[in-house]
Amino acid sequence: MSDIDAWEDELKLRYPNPKNDSGTKSDLSTDRPQKSRDTFRDYAAESRESVKEFYRLNHARQTYAFAQVKRRQYLKLNHRSMGIWEAMEYLNTLVDDSDPDTDLSQIEHLLQTSESIRADGHPDWFILTGLIHDLGKILCLMGEPQWAVVGDTFPVGCAYAKGIVYHEFFRDNPDWNHPVYSTRLGIYRENIGLRHVKMSWGHDEYLYQVVKDFLPTEALYMIRYHSFYAAHRENEYQHLFDKGDHQFFEWVCKFNEYDLYSKSDERPNVKKLRPYYENLIDQFFPKTINW
Ligand SMILES: [Fe+2]
Ligand SMILES: [Fe+2]
Repeated sequence: MSDIDAWEDELKLRYPNPKNDSGTKSDLSTDRPQKSRDTFRDYAAESRESVKEFYRLNHARQTYAFAQVKRRQYLKLNHRSMGIWEAMEYLNTLVDDSDPDTDLSQIEHLLQTSESIRADGHPDWFILTGLIHDLGKILCLMGEPQWAVVGDTFPVGCAYAKGIVYHEFFRDNPDWNHPVYSTRLGIYRENIGLRHVKMSWGHDEYLYQVVKDFLPTEALYMIRYHSFYAAHRENEYQHLFDKGDHQFFEWVCKFNEYDLYSKSDERPNVKKLRPYYENLIDQFFPKTINW
C-alpha cells in the first residue's frame, strides 16, 4: 500500500457510517472540501487491489511463531525512551506516497479522533485514548513492514475465524494445517479470557504493552483491541471471551465509532490544541516512558 492508512479507508467501505451513508466523512463542519462520495469510490477501487495484496501478506505471515518472535523483540520496551507528544511527532515523520494536500498527517488523524471524543463530552481518559491510540504505528519507523503493523488483528494459536476479512488468504499460512493451531480452541480453553490469548502482531498490542501501567482498563481494551474487527464487528471468538471481556468490549465498540468516522479532510489546529493536550498527557503519564 502506498499509504499506511489505506486499509482504514477499506474499513469504511466494509463498515460504512450508519449516520451518513457516504461512509467517508464525519459530521464536523469544515471549510475544506470533503472528498465526494464518487471521488472516494474511485480512489477506493484503485486502492482496493493494494489493500488486498496487503492482506494476502498479512494473513500468510501472521503465525503464532511470528507473533512470539515480535513480542520477544519489542516487549522488553528497550528501543526508545520518549514522552507521548514526542512519540506523536516521531510518528508524524512517517511519510507515505499519498497526496499531502488532501491527506492528513498522523498527528492530525490523532487529534481528529480525540477532538471528536472531547466534543461529545467524554471523560479525560477517553479523550487521551483517542489521542494516542495509533502511536504503536511507530513500529513502521522501527523497520517493520506494513503487514506487521496495521490491518485487522486476530488471535493466533487457534483457528482463524471465518469472519476475518479475506479469510481465504489464511490458506497460505503455515498454521492453517497445524494439528493444534488449526482447531477451534487451539492452545486455549473455553472462555479463557482474552488476556491469555496471543493476538497477531501489530500497533494495537505494542501500544497496549507500552501504556498498560498508566490508563484505566476501559482505555486499555480500546487500545489493545481496536483493530480486532472479527470480534467487535463480526462477533467471532466469543468462546475465548470471559465475562469481563464482554463488558469491556462495549467500550471497544464505542471507541470504534470515533476511530473510523471522525476522519475528515478538516485540519485540526495542532499549535492551538497542543497546550490542552500536553496538560492532559501530564495527568496520566510521566515525562518519558519506555518504547
Ligand atoms: Fe489503529
Ligand atoms: Fe485509528
